[in-house]
Amino acid sequence: MGKALDGVRILDFTHVQSGPTCTQLLAWFGADVIKVERAGAGDVTREQLRDIPDVDSLYFTMLNHNKRSITLDTKSPSGKEILEKLIKRCDVLVENFAPGALDRMGFTWERVQALNPKMIVASVKGFGPGPYEECKVYENVAQCAGGAASTTGFDDGPPLVTGAQIGDSGTGLHLALGIVAALYQRNSTGRGQKVLAAMQDGVLNLCRVKLRDQQRLARNGVMQEYPQYPNGEFGDAVPRAGNASGGGQPGSIVKCKGWETDPNAYLYFIAQAPIWKEICNVIGKEDWITNPDYATPSARLPRLKQVFEAIEQWTMTKTKFEAMDLLNKHDIPCGPILSMKELAAEPSLRATGTIVEVDHPKRGKYLTVGNPIKLSDSITEVTRSPLLGEHTDEVLAELGYGGQDIAGFRAKKVI
Ligand code: COA
Repeated sequence: MGKALDGVRILDFTHVQSGPTCTQLLAWFGADVIKVERAGAGDVTREQLRDIPDVDSLYFTMLNHNKRSITLDTKSPSGKEILEKLIKRCDVLVENFAPGALDRMGFTWERVQALNPKMIVASVKGFGPGPYEECKVYENVAQCAGGAASTTGFDDGPPLVTGAQIGDSGTGLHLALGIVAALYQRNSTGRGQKVLAAMQDGVLNLCRVKLRDQQRLARNGVMQEYPQYPNGEFGDAVPRAGNASGGGQPGSIVKCKGWETDPNAYLYFIAQAPIWKEICNVIGKEDWITNPDYATPSARLPRLKQVFEAIEQWTMTKTKFEAMDLLNKHDIPCGPILSMKELAAEPSLRATGTIVEVDHPKRGKYLTVGNPIKLSDSITEVTRSPLLGEHTDEVLAELGYGGQDIAGFRAKKVI
């Protein structure tokens, strides 16, 4: 079966996490992704957080599936010559260098366009144009600068970063969408274009609901869905809301049976208004169905603390899985807090290819997260990440170089 992006060639200058997330997705959709790395070193993550000496780390392998790797010194004259050929041959150049690095290499937008006017040049940067555009950025900087940290955590504690890599992987996802849109537009214009996904912007996009709340707060001085209501104080910026949903359907994390010893014996419980009667019946608070203090969503807002305390009294008598089963029988939305250990062992995620076991020649079998986006006519087959420079000769041969040329490049340490 063919793939959605069959025939699309990606010149992949990405490293670390944000860019590689993007190009891995494109590879999963069928693009030929040629990852360009520095000879002898490669993507810095190959050796970061290693669990086996001298073997590509899981950090690297889990972000670079289905790609080819060539080594190239793009700052040497012969390296530039090879790179020019690659630019002429590929459809998209993706990079997440520090600002200006591609220009310093001699490959400005104008130069790339002169070589290949159809080329799409896609970049992840920490910040968009403005006071911080020259700054280098990593995940947690983006989470802080994009509004996630100021709105995550508890009201009486410091800002928190989250485990979800919304700055890196989140921005990689944004960039992938931009690239596919630019490829689509190229069908009618015949031209390439620049695609920029700034990490601050990507995080802010994912924190959209908090900017909504900022404006609600500015108008009304209070947000009734937040745990600060009715007894706490609101300042002039959206506060941290702990585990409260803060949205249209009140929700919170509640303890389940075993919470004293199991750090993940918890459940997210949503007290959705249309099934309030069922919730009351399940937790044994039948009187709240008609009690005017609890019977309507607005009456409950100042009493959400009491509501979730009562819910927790019930959930503490059940394991998170028992609670999940029982509550779903009544259509009550809830979710167990699942550990990475539990997710890795989850048969349904294995069955759909969201968790995949991959074999690697040096590390053996390991688990990875497969393509979370499923296309019915473009099935993802996850193949292992490339060894450093594994496809250098193959790619150079495709560019028309013979064995002697390749030996010459090797002698000059270009590849
Ligand atoms: N041949 C020759 N030189 C190469 C090369 C190659 N194949 N590949 C990279 N280089 C050079 C670059 O040209 C650059 O040289 P320069 O500084 O002389 O211009 C140099 O290697 C280092 O690249 P850089 O991107 O600056 O790496 P860094 O380790 O200093 O910074 C980041 C890392 C992630 C902080 C930075 O790349 C960044 O801010 N990227 C944008 C935001 C981002 O994606 N952050 C999240 C990462 S998950």
